[in-house]
Amino acid sequence: MIRLFHIADLHFGREHRPLVDAFIDYCMAEPPDLIVATGDFTQGARRKEFAAARQFFDALPCPVIGAPGNHDVPSRALDHRFFTPWQRFERALGGRIDPRLETDVVLGETLHTARRAQMQLDWSLGRVSRSDALVLSRKLENGEQPIKFVACHHPLIAPNGSKGRARTKRGEHAAEILSAAADLVLTGHLHQTFALPRAGESHVCWFVGASTTFSERTRDEPSGFNEILIEADRMELIHHESREAISFLPARRFELPRRPGDTEPEPVDLSGHAGR
Ligand SMILES: [Fe+2]
Repeated sequence: MIRLFHIADLHFGREHRPLVDAFIDYCMAEPPDLIVATGDFTQGARRKEFAAARQFFDALPCPVIGAPGNHDVPSRALDHRFFTPWQRFERALGGRIDPRLETDVVLGETLHTARRAQMQLDWSLGRVSRSDALVLSRKLENGEQPIKFVACHHPLIAPNGSKGRARTKRGEHAAEILSAAADLVLTGHLHQTFALPRAGESHVCWFVGASTTFSERTRDEPSGFNEILIEADRMELIHHESREAISFLPARRFELPRRPGDTEPEPVDLSGHAGR
């Protein structure tokens, strides 16, 4: 069995410190095999925010795989934004967060969906390159591992369809390609917990979104993170939620079947959930 923690939208610069410490304590008490961090590590890609993020990741007791988000591109230093958009991310976190992971049982890959600029007004939206999606699906198909996943910042599909902040360019297309090869696609950006199944002939691919783990930028649901247990024929999603903004507690569990059955797997959607 593999046990991973899925965290997202940390937004260092706007982090809620007691929850940062609570998450580290949680990991130290019973370290997961892996942490998947799906972007927006910082609020504004400032050096001190990346330094705080690095300090956090250095305190964690396990490998971390992840990709940056739209907030990790400098927004004010325009020379950096246009000419070296990922330099601060790479310098601060490149030595600690891996872009891929390959073991005997797990193959994990990441996809860049954030852009320095776009031919549209809202530059925070995601975009998938056609060739990136194809290259990634080939890598996954060639892997012999029984568990394969992809991590990226922007949602490829979302509970309410490709609307609003979930308008990821070519997201649906990438979802179709990747669902044939991956068991899990982990994303952030929406600050929303969900798990949507795409059942194929031999396996079910789950698209899982996470809320913000500990930033003050909560939207419709409280801070939290996902614990995912992966076994041969099943997965379990345990949603951990912040309590009184000082600790995390497991709040609910969902079965995510890995093999298609007689009935369609049930989607999970905590949209608008106000917490306890
Ligand atoms: Fe984002």
